[in-house]
Amino acid sequence: RSKRPAGAPDRKLARPVTKVGVVGAGLMAGQLALLFARQLKVPVVLTDIDQARVDKGVGYVHGEVDKLLAKKRISADAANRTKALVSGSVSKEAFADADFVIEAVFEELGVKKQVFAELEAVVSEDCILATNTSSLSVTAMAEDLQHPERLVGFHFFNPVAVMPLLEIVRAPRTDDAVLATAFELAKTLKKTGVLVKDAAAFVVNRILLRLMGEVTAAFDEGTPADVADSALKPMGLPMSPFTLLAMVGLPVAQHVQESLNSAFGDRFPVSANLHKLIDNGVKGLWETAPDGSVAIPDSTLSL
Ligand code: 3HC
Repeated sequence: RSKRPAGAPDRKLARPVTKVGVVGAGLMAGQLALLFARQLKVPVVLTDIDQARVDKGVGYVHGEVDKLLAKKRISADAANRTKALVSGSVSKEAFADADFVIEAVFEELGVKKQVFAELEAVVSEDCILATNTSSLSVTAMAEDLQHPERLVGFHFFNPVAVMPLLEIVRAPRTDDAVLATAFELAKTLKKTGVLVKDAAAFVVNRILLRLMGEVTAAFDEGTPADVADSALKPMGLPMSPFTLLAMVGLPVAQHVQESLNSAFGDRFPVSANLHKLIDNGVKGLWETAPDGSVAIPDSTLSL
């Protein structure tokens, strides 16, 4: 028998999850839908604000399943089953019979609160609501809920398919049965669930952003990205910091920097140039190949 993770309630309290909802059909949401369909093997429905986004999200999942099949990581039967489990909708009504709905929408408190208010109008009484926020307060998100006890933080890392950790966030009013279900889900998803306090950016991003803050500060001071990148290569990081920034996405990185800066001050600087790049509509400094890999060009701009 495996040991219960630190702080996890008795697993006997966990409720079954037979249908999952994912709000948002962006890259994170698509990765979550794939993981739930593949590992939990239950129907998963993705929603977004328009049909084009929904189709893109479902298309992403199908494309990833095809890649797994081509690499012979799954059988043709499993590929077909997984694809058939994932559907999309522009209406949150599709979540009426879901037991667990996770949001992966834009990293802004007001947007998340709006999503949860809409969700509570359609989901069942005991449907668990989860947020994949990387840095916002889960407690603040629960504030206006009719059932704040049903909200839990469920924070995955990029790329979801391969990163083993899952931060499970308990807000002050999160119910034990909700938390127990979150830990059981983590196990079924083959992730290592750890219980973290509801503090800005939880644990991993606080540590990661101390490093990234120095990297982007060097960039702001005029060190070109490719120089900083090659200087850091011998340190044995699994991925270069700039590639990581590109993978996570500049707007997400900026939001995390801002959340940490407002919570902890100068320990977490906000990069002036990251901000400038986003204002100028530059989504990424790096080339993304059709297979999703990110390459840093030889002479990345220095500001
Ligand atoms: N999607 C799916 N699978 C992927 C992938 C992706 N984007 N990228 C890599 N993989 C898979 C590969 O297919 C390969 O699987 P296989 O062995 O079954 O073929 C496996 O991962 C290893 O890949 P590679 O051998 O090509 O490359 P690496 O050994 O360099 O590993 C990595 C890739 C695991 C992504 C590694 O570089 C790494 O750990 N990078 C750091 C990632 C990280 O720090 N993530 C946290 C970001 S912060 C965050 O997400 C928080 C958010 O809130 C902001």
